[in-house]
Amino acid sequence: MMQFPKIIQGGMGVGVSNWRLANAVSKLGQLGVVSGTALDQLFVRRLADGDQGGAMRRGLDAFPFPDMAKRIWQEYFVPGGKPADAPYPVAPMHQRRDIRKVVELCIVSNFVEVFLAREGHKNPVGINFLEKVQMPHLSSIYGAMLAGVGYVLMGAGIPLHIPGVLDAFAAQHPSEYKLSVTGAEQGQDTQMLFDPADYAEGPLPILHRPRFLAIVSSNTLATTMLRRASGRVDGFVIETPIAGGHNAPPRGKLQLNEAGEPIYGDRDRVNMADFRMLGVPFWLAGGYGSPEMVREALDEGAAGVQVGTAFAFTEESGLRSDLKNSLLAQAVAGTGDVFTDPLASPTGFPFKVAQLQGSYSDAEVAQTRTRVCDLGYLREPYAAGEGKIGYRCAAEPVANYVAKGGKAEDTVGRKCLCNALMANIGHQQIRKSGEVEPPLVTVGDDLNTIAMFLAPGRDSYSAAEVVESLLSMTAENAAYEPAVVEERVWAATA
Ligand SMILES: Cc1cc2nc3c(=O)[nH]c(=O)nc-3n(C[C@H](O)[C@H](O)[C@H](O)COP(=O)(O)O)c2cc1C
Repeated sequence: MMQFPKIIQGGMGVGVSNWRLANAVSKLGQLGVVSGTALDQLFVRRLADGDQGGAMRRGLDAFPFPDMAKRIWQEYFVPGGKPADAPYPVAPMHQRRDIRKVVELCIVSNFVEVFLAREGHKNPVGINFLEKVQMPHLSSIYGAMLAGVGYVLMGAGIPLHIPGVLDAFAAQHPSEYKLSVTGAEQGQDTQMLFDPADYAEGPLPILHRPRFLAIVSSNTLATTMLRRASGRVDGFVIETPIAGGHNAPPRGKLQLNEAGEPIYGDRDRVNMADFRMLGVPFWLAGGYGSPEMVREALDEGAAGVQVGTAFAFTEESGLRSDLKNSLLAQAVAGTGDVFTDPLASPTGFPFKVAQLQGSYSDAEVAQTRTRVCDLGYLREPYAAGEGKIGYRCAAEPVANYVAKGGKAEDTVGRKCLCNALMANIGHQQIRKSGEVEPPLVTVGDDLNTIAMFLAPGRDSYSAAEVVESLLSMTAENAAYEPAVVEERVWAATA
């Protein structure tokens, strides 16, 4: 019988679920998941900050291609760290055919994050990617597999072709991934390619095929994945619209409530009975960060839960401590307020935003920030004529977006998540003008419930405390009888 974790600590980008958090969770026998999003730029910033604590160096020393590791160290490491008021260096933005330096950064940074999350224990570690952020996929997945990643989890799009990529890399083959290009001409070449042999310094290492979990929000999407994916789908995370991060848009025509948030209805609910019939393990996510909800999920036949918000505020997470403390204080007071913003994310997906004065959720801060696009993970590839591909982001300067064929109205309310999410974890860019990029924290609607993890007299809590609390009403602790459906659910994959 296959072993599955009861708790998946959800991937939280950028760098909120970092190697430290994932390590702590996996060490406890649950599944720690690092975020793979924008790891290349994050790696550059950690090196520019002088690699405090030396973890990046440790990871680089374990990297199987030492010349590549050396090139990156030499280019980006700043002994003692850059001056606090100096801008961070920025690696070139991704495109369909990345230049070698960018590919190498992706391989190395994904390797290091997974390597560090696996240090000191033998349990699996997962990595999370957003399907929509396609350009770094192949090199990132390869880097994570080089470090022996146990699970790849992906949502925010339909990751039909990822299972085949995992199979190809495990067989030491090159792999392709079709880039979605708006308005692509008939027959236009939009494939991305990655051949491990182009990067290996010696014989190709033997790699294991990680398990693949698709993050979905409907029965239809799960069925499509099982029918049409390019390889094995090992399970699903079913995410409800109250989860932190990006949410799937509601079905049908978008309707907003009085506050301006998308309205979700019955059609957005997953039918559990139908889901169980798929015979594939699943985890429930979005508001499942409490012992009662874990128990409820198990009783529904789930293998367990995926939890984000509760882990985002642990001592181990990458979230900036001032942001952690302010929002924890709000949770304790019961005043935490989360807005499901239909516009903020350039992806077009609703995005949950914690309301926090002085952050980018503040209308005044949003208005005064100078638009700039220099990280570009959410850029939309579009057909630019003569077989060329252009890249645009609805949060970039409006004139640039419009010059690239984008509609001015689509830029309204958009926020630069790339820079904001870097700021959330203490790597805020400082512009030559002195302007500092503001943070924009995403959390689930259940923000206020995290107060339950604070022991009396304490103002912080650890990942171990969350795991212990979440399992407190299951077999590991109380007299929990596993539901009969558990057997049936496993049958198809065991
Ligand atoms: C700070 C934060 C960042 C997140 N980033 C991602 C992400 O990069 N990719 C992803 O698939 N899910 C992301 N999520 C969703 C979580 O992985 C998880 O599914 C969700 O938080 C579960 O719901 P909960 O917040 O109610 O616990 C994020 C959630 C949070 C709170």
